[in-house]
Amino acid sequence: MPEYPKDYTLVTLDGTDRPDCHTLQAYLDNGGYRAVKKVLQEGMTRDDVIGEVKQSGLRGRGGAGFPTGLKWSFMPVDTPQPKYLACNADEAEPGTFKDRDIMRYNPHMLVEGMVIGGFAVDATVGYVYIRGEFWEPYVRVQQAIDEAYEAGYLGQNILGSGVDFDLYVHRGGGAYIAGEETAMLESIEGKKAMPRFKPPFPANYGIFGRPTTVNNVETLASVPAIINNGGEWFQNLGTPDSGGTKIFAVSGHVNRPGNYEVPMGTPFSELLELAGGMRDGNRLKAVIPGGPSVPIVPGDVMMDANMDYESLSKAGTMLGAGSVIVMDETTCIVRAVERVAKFFFHESCGQCTPCREGAGWLYRIVHRIEQGQGRQEDLDTLLNIGSRIEGRTICAFGDAEVAPVVSSIQHFRDEYEYHIEHKHCMVGASAPAGKI
Ligand code: NAI
Ligand code: SF4
Repeated sequence: MPEYPKDYTLVTLDGTDRPDCHTLQAYLDNGGYRAVKKVLQEGMTRDDVIGEVKQSGLRGRGGAGFPTGLKWSFMPVDTPQPKYLACNADEAEPGTFKDRDIMRYNPHMLVEGMVIGGFAVDATVGYVYIRGEFWEPYVRVQQAIDEAYEAGYLGQNILGSGVDFDLYVHRGGGAYIAGEETAMLESIEGKKAMPRFKPPFPANYGIFGRPTTVNNVETLASVPAIINNGGEWFQNLGTPDSGGTKIFAVSGHVNRPGNYEVPMGTPFSELLELAGGMRDGNRLKAVIPGGPSVPIVPGDVMMDANMDYESLSKAGTMLGAGSVIVMDETTCIVRAVERVAKFFFHESCGQCTPCREGAGWLYRIVHRIEQGQGRQEDLDTLLNIGSRIEGRTICAFGDAEVAPVVSSIQHFRDEYEYHIEHKHCMVGASAPAGKI
């Protein structure tokens, strides 16, 4: 775990400095499962729990930032069981590795958050859908579930309250698109992970057509602290519109890449300092603050931005899943975008023509520019293709594949033009294309 130079309040990484932090004993020693007792044994109603979560300002930590309390309130109460709570632990956005650490080091916090979430949305069955490539997180979560059953925090009549909640782990099949929430529902049903049209949203038509709430790992793991300390406490940790803390997974050209949990609204410059500053004292060139699904931003713009939804939106980008990819002056933007475009081309599920075909076009054109075979008109062609994909697809993947290409042309057009004119990269000027 990172060392913090000042006294930050940790929520989802709380207690993770202890070597056995993933065990039930360590979690109990740190005050674990107090929140579930408060909810189930001290007479809190579903509305009370949802009210606290609404007041906390907690927004979905998977990337979209949808208000969690509001989402929970969409679940129909009068509909008979089964109803489901599904935890999205697929975490496949490049540069994102925060949920992995919550599952490795604080799996009981996730289990406790799911018991409380299940109660709030009136679901008696939960699934943790874990990315197939994650082995240690899977083992740790399964161990935590086994321990929680043994101790009476899961199963029938939890703590004598009359509330039932069974929790299962479902391992993913290794496709990025399986993390799109409706594709995940399909996968849990045993089908190929292909996104569904929305609406209907999962609250009305989820797993096997039953009401389902889908929340990310970090979102659910934030819930016990909100119940223990109150929604207002959590809200006050962050900004008025972005409550609480957030884990930022910082990678790229920094001295200490890793997960850093900081209050929402923390200046980017402070986060960069926590991560040890720029590698080799190099100049900051660009940042992707929320994973490659969100627009790339020039370094000087980021140095004036704070890590919250509103500030990043003003900076022309998004918080996304909080995967902060830092690029220094040695980075060839065209090459970086080419790699991201190749990723999206590979991962498109192929259902929608604009996404399936467009992803290939975007990749091939950026690739030929990078290889020194581009034409000046390629840049407008890329923007044109982007405008024909955006908003015309079943799921958000279409918008995501466009964001890095369009934003990089907007901010770094000169680098593309240099590549086209000189047939090699502007960075390390004499190097042949493809070698930076
Ligand atoms: P979305 O905005 O469509 O939905 C967000 C959530 O709110 C969903 O659970 C949706 O069901 C719910 N919702 C939205 N409007 C609703 C309404 N009117 N009624 C009921 N429920 C409603 O966004 P989406 O497609 O779920 O997520 C896209 C985000 O995922 C991107 O911003 C990206 O940052 C992130 N992402 C994260 C990854 C990761 O590894 N963590 C991977 C890929 C993308
Ligand atoms: Fe599949 Fe792309 Fe359509 Fe999403 S936008 S459903 S990934 S083809």
